[in-house]
Amino acid sequence: MKIAFYDTKPYDKIWFEPLAKEYDYKIKYFDYKLNSDTAVLSKGYDAVCVFVNDTVDKETIDILCENGVKIIALRCAGYNNVDLKAAKGRIKIVRVPAYSPAAVAEHAAALLLTVNRKTHRAYIRTKDSNFNINGLLGVDLKGKTAGIIGTGQIGRMFVDICRGFHMDVVAYDPYPAKDSDIEYVSLDRLFEKSDIISLHCPLTKETHHIINSDSIEKMRDNVIIINTSRGRLIDSAALIDGLKSKKIGGAGLDVYEEESEYFFEDFSNEIIKDDELARLLSFPNVVMTSHQGFFTREAMQAIAMVTIENLWSFDNGKSLENEVCYKQ
Ligand code: NAI
Repeated sequence: MKIAFYDTKPYDKIWFEPLAKEYDYKIKYFDYKLNSDTAVLSKGYDAVCVFVNDTVDKETIDILCENGVKIIALRCAGYNNVDLKAAKGRIKIVRVPAYSPAAVAEHAAALLLTVNRKTHRAYIRTKDSNFNINGLLGVDLKGKTAGIIGTGQIGRMFVDICRGFHMDVVAYDPYPAKDSDIEYVSLDRLFEKSDIISLHCPLTKETHHIINSDSIEKMRDNVIIINTSRGRLIDSAALIDGLKSKKIGGAGLDVYEEESEYFFEDFSNEIIKDDELARLLSFPNVVMTSHQGFFTREAMQAIAMVTIENLWSFDNGKSLENEVCYKQ
């Protein structure tokens, strides 16, 4: 198989190249993201391999099909960046449904602990020999209520982590886990009851801006919001308003609405033109990471392995257990 690999970072090659050799697959690594401009580069390849911020819209899919590409292998779980309707019956889509739920759940916990105990600020202070602790006051998580939106693989692991901190947990999921003792409540009740809210649902029409000015209004004062799922679950303008009015006590964000412009790239010598991103970065009680929730050794190994196995299954006419299909 010949595979065109888009949006390549140096760490991708470390995990993919040994497997490609083992399977005798040829991978061409492009730095560019896949979109309707760069799709032309796919000519002569059987497959394209893409990540979270590649744009797999109808125009891109049309070009991939014209170029003879037969399968799009997502090296991630989410597929909100793919026009599944445009792909239906023309090109296969496969993904990596769960590579390490622990990686993302643990990162959500890292963000929560950082926002609460302000270790991001303490680190900078002590580096500068400033041992003053004014302004670094946190709360005990023990006894607080965590509201978990989405109790799939990652959400459930985060529930366990919260319980490890002796927090009470409530959750909202239209498809509650039947084999669990999680207390499910309505979304409104979750907003009212929770001291921290963590998002672990996919981005869909229903969940787009699930955190907005109305929902923020219903929340407890000083609520901490954690988002390791997808940026568009939160209306950034409403989040900024909530932070400015001090209704929201802090936010830990691994994803951002318009992240595709910026995340995974070095802008340290540039001017950030996205005013909402710049505003969010300016709050002392916002900790932002650049979509790194998945980034552990175990997850990278699993992502590379499952992606190559997905392609192997296609190549060998086997059933595609990780296929993503358009559902009406
Ligand atoms: P999953 O598919 O196991 O669980 C998702 C859960 O969300 C399911 O229980 C589903 O019923 C629920 N859900 C669906 N619609 C909902 C709604 N309207 N409201 C509330 N819940 C709803 O997915 P998994 O593996 O737990 O991943 C969750 C999300 O985490 C992914 O969709 C992806 O966006 C994000 N993710 C982020 C990563 C990162 O690096 N930051 C890495 C991997 C995933």
